[in-house]
Amino acid sequence: MKHLDVSAIKDGSVIDHIESKSTLKVADILNIQNEEQVVLVGMNLTSKFLGKKGIIKIGGKIIDQKEVNKIALIAPNASVNIIKDYEVIKKFKVAVPDIIEGIVKCFNPNCISNYYNTQSKLHVVNKNPIKLQCHYCERIMNAKDLVI
Ligand code: CTP
Repeated sequence: MKHLDVSAIKDGSVIDHIESKSTLKVADILNIQNEEQVVLVGMNLTSKFLGKKGIIKIGGKIIDQKEVNKIALIAPNASVNIIKDYEVIKKFKVAVPDIIEGIVKCFNPNCISNYYNTQSKLHVVNKNPIKLQCHYCERIMNAKDLVI
């Protein structure tokens, strides 16, 4: 039997292949402190592709598309596994969309999108590393500037 660094879960979501240093940021955007289910977090685990990786397992929760889009911005190499009765029933890689609406605020405090209840709209100029451009003020944002 295969050895697991972080134990298997019965039902829920596994976010795998997170760049290790981004693991807690992903945990943060998923708001897992507020979940009542079991949450397992592993960091600096050995990965063939990434060298070191992080993993987050959330028992009893199926993560939704909005959460997947957020994860993609922080961890563009991540894969998501949906687990049911200990089996992986769905597996997919996160994908950064071409346009991001309403998830990330524009970094420019004077941008119109930060006023009048306007929903933010950012064009993805580069996916990995992430680089976004505001639709309204054209300010460019990198990973370090993202407020999600
Ligand atoms: N997993 C889990 N609980 C289960 C089944 C799987 O936590 N009941 C986790 C595994 O630990 C792994 C991920 O879900 O991190 C995907 O499982 P699986 O597809 O079996 O692993 P791999 O083949 O190693 O996945 P990949 O090819 O995506 O690296």
